[in-house]
Amino acid sequence: MSSHQRLLIIDFGSQVTQLIARRLRELNVYCEIHPYQTVTPVFLAGFAPKAVIFSGGPASVFDDGAPHPPGEVFDLGVPILGICYGQQVMMQMLGGKVERGQGTAEFGRAYVSHTDERIDLLTGWFLDDREQVWMSHGDHVSEIAPGFKVYGTSPNAPFAITADLGRNFYAVQFHPEVHHTPNGKTLYENFVRLAGFAGDWTMGAYRDEAIARIRDQVGDAKVICGLSGGVDSSVAAVLIHEAIGDQLTCVFVDHGLLRQNEATEVVAMFRDHYNIPLIHADESDLFLNELDGVTDPETKRKTIGRLFIDVFQKHAAEVGGARFLAQGTLYPDVIESVSFSGGPSVTIKSHHNVGGLPEKMGLELVEPLRELFKDEVRALGHELGLPASFIGRHPFPGPGLAIRCPGEITRDKLAILRRADAVYIDQIRRHGLYDDIWQAFAALLPVRTVGVMGDGRTYDYACALRAVTSVDGMTADYYPFSHAFLSETATRIINEVPGINRVTYDITSKPPGTIEWE
Ligand code: XMP
Repeated sequence: MSSHQRLLIIDFGSQVTQLIARRLRELNVYCEIHPYQTVTPVFLAGFAPKAVIFSGGPASVFDDGAPHPPGEVFDLGVPILGICYGQQVMMQMLGGKVERGQGTAEFGRAYVSHTDERIDLLTGWFLDDREQVWMSHGDHVSEIAPGFKVYGTSPNAPFAITADLGRNFYAVQFHPEVHHTPNGKTLYENFVRLAGFAGDWTMGAYRDEAIARIRDQVGDAKVICGLSGGVDSSVAAVLIHEAIGDQLTCVFVDHGLLRQNEATEVVAMFRDHYNIPLIHADESDLFLNELDGVTDPETKRKTIGRLFIDVFQKHAAEVGGARFLAQGTLYPDVIESVSFSGGPSVTIKSHHNVGGLPEKMGLELVEPLRELFKDEVRALGHELGLPASFIGRHPFPGPGLAIRCPGEITRDKLAILRRADAVYIDQIRRHGLYDDIWQAFAALLPVRTVGVMGDGRTYDYACALRAVTSVDGMTADYYPFSHAFLSETATRIINEVPGINRVTYDITSKPPGTIEWE
């Protein structure tokens, strides 16, 4: 458990609970999200939070078995902030009243006006007479609990902001963590200040602690790490190498489905720049031979997954006697999410970068990024001196170019695709757009079209360009390039990449599309 001052977020299943954690981490406050079912009095005593936040959630306090925190949370003597459902459950447990929404539901943008009395929680918050917030509630508080007073109201939520200043309990009906509550971060800033947080969660401090923890866990044993060239496994590898030096060996499996120069760049950086022992397993023949004639997307993925595990296992065995496997697992992968559909059961999302391997090889896991969000991993990467261009790289899927080459994969097609992708990404970088885009790539379509170049007829492949904005890859929008950018890029690809004579831009969002083509 972290040695930092800790804030506990009790999760009642809101879709945006993770955003609360993000806002707090941005304020250098260490926090953890735990589903309400796991927050027992014993857990509370062990966690020893310096403050507690109740998240929102989809339930109604009138539901049978409605979720609630243990009553002991109110006896901890620490500040508590209840949000939306968190406000309602707090009021109900402390002696107030909640009413079922009957025609008074509020979803979306609303405006909260202040009362005459200003409190510390609201310092710098009401920039005007009223402040925009995001509401999403059916039920509402109809009578506040003894000790509470009202400090903000909205047309449909007369108790939009309430507080019991004597006990440092605060409760708001809206969601300060979402983007649509533009000044919401100020509320969190005020809350953690009045709770006495020193802002001791910094990447510099985290790096030193993580190194100490890795040394402690690993001792003098050997560790292997599957390097994909992505940000997470790279940062994990450099951090672990800093902790235990050459006890770490990285295995980089080149499946022949990487982008232009990717293998060379990864090997140069890890082996030559960081001096990390690295096995560069060029297994492209094996993968491409097995994929020969395979056109079904799921068969492609399964073939690649199966071969990847075999190959990794074979090369890891060369290290001899490794006891640990390092993985770049992130915090969003390990947060237990509250599931209401299946009753009060808990679903744990687990993420195995090299699926199933630890069990199969009898290895223990080293996961030094388990407490971090993606952008914290990037900050840690900066701290460790990884080049900015590497840290900011777009995600790249494990099956690589195989899922960007719909239909049959051939070496010729892969060579064409690599060149088109390189020109496209070069265009994006030249125009300064790379960091505005979540992910961009070219796909080579299994379609040949007729064109005319010079005086001659061409009959070549069509390529599709994809660029999306997204927060987490779960949903995505296409990136609105200018027409000038698109036509310049199409012209360059057709001129510079033999084998392509037509370029299209994919404007499908996700859903209904997916980001990758397969
Ligand atoms: P889709 O295509 O499902 O992709 O919208 C969402 C995000 O996930 C990436 N992706 C993968 N990443 N192994 C990975 O490591 C995979 O098999 C895989 N499939 C998709 C995709 O690039 C996008 O960022």
